[in-house]
Amino acid sequence: MANEKNDEIVVLGGTGKTGRWLVRELRAAGHAVRPASRSGEVRFDWSDRDTWPAVVEGAAAVYLIPGGPEATRDFARLAVDAGVRRLVTLSGRGMDRYPPGVGAARFPSVAAGELAVRESGVEWSIIRANNFNQNFDVDYWRPPLLAGRLALPTGGVPEPFVDTRDVAAVAAALLTEDGHQGRAYDVSGPRALTFDEAVATIARAAGREIRFVELTPEEYQAELAAEGVPAEAAAELGAIFDSMRSGHLAEPAPGVREVLGREPISFESYATEAAQAGAWA
Ligand SMILES: NC(=O)c1ccc[n+]([C@@H]2O[C@H](COP(=O)([O-])OP(=O)(O)OC[C@H]3O[C@@H](n4cnc5c(N)ncnc54)[C@H](OP(=O)(O)O)[C@@H]3O)[C@@H](O)[C@H]2O)c1
Repeated sequence: MANEKNDEIVVLGGTGKTGRWLVRELRAAGHAVRPASRSGEVRFDWSDRDTWPAVVEGAAAVYLIPGGPEATRDFARLAVDAGVRRLVTLSGRGMDRYPPGVGAARFPSVAAGELAVRESGVEWSIIRANNFNQNFDVDYWRPPLLAGRLALPTGGVPEPFVDTRDVAAVAAALLTEDGHQGRAYDVSGPRALTFDEAVATIARAAGREIRFVELTPEEYQAELAAEGVPAEAAAELGAIFDSMRSGHLAEPAPGVREVLGREPISFESYATEAAQAGAWA
């Protein structure tokens, strides 16, 4: 179905860190796009199944940011029944490294996304991404950076952070080009940095003093509980750092180069641009 410009592409999470760039990228290439989320152009709510049919009706492909396991499975089935012919899901780096059942127990949502597209019976691809650059400026880590202290249980293991603009560009290719179906791509940035180095890079770019503090996993859980983070989300965040400390996500991955034929965006250029845009002002 490559490059049929009248076929609409549904982007779940179209207002999110990857979806917002994916919508721009696809539109710039002339594709018709249906950004779907609670506050998006098309209303879609994982917790309101009445909103689902209109989202997939007549669509050709879906960027599937997963919801809960059962909902994700049911939504993928609904999409295929409605005629969707291609599904691309966003998952986490290392999901293929767990023994059967363990990944699904630790990361139920992305595991369900992977399973749903694989079992869909239509064309599918999986993107397995390292931690995003944009976690530092539009998401979890921005408030602590603004407060001058980011504290996490990284074990000093470096992470090849990936820019969500690269994730979106890869997703756009998988949704619109042939040759990527039935494949999973590991995507990362070009170089691994410790969180100490990443925070120092941001502090320099922002011209502020910001400390990185290494926590034990127990101290991290205590901080999350004190912030009122729900137990389920705290467990998933804990599992992300367990996975990172194991060291098997630390090598840069080739996905961006394989799919796009160019180098991924560096952390330094991301930090400079985000600082100039006032992210940590
Ligand atoms: N952060 C990372 O470093 C990282 C790394 C690898 C993989 N991932 C995976 O990436 C996924 C998140 O993608 P993202 O970072 O692009 O999104 P995001 O920035 O977390 O934004 C979430 C998106 O989902 C929408 N949304 C939230 N609740 C919803 C609901 N109940 N029903 C429908 N839509 C809802 C939001 O829009 P509305 O508010 O308008 O509904 C928003 O567009 C997760 O599955 C995560 O596991 C993240």
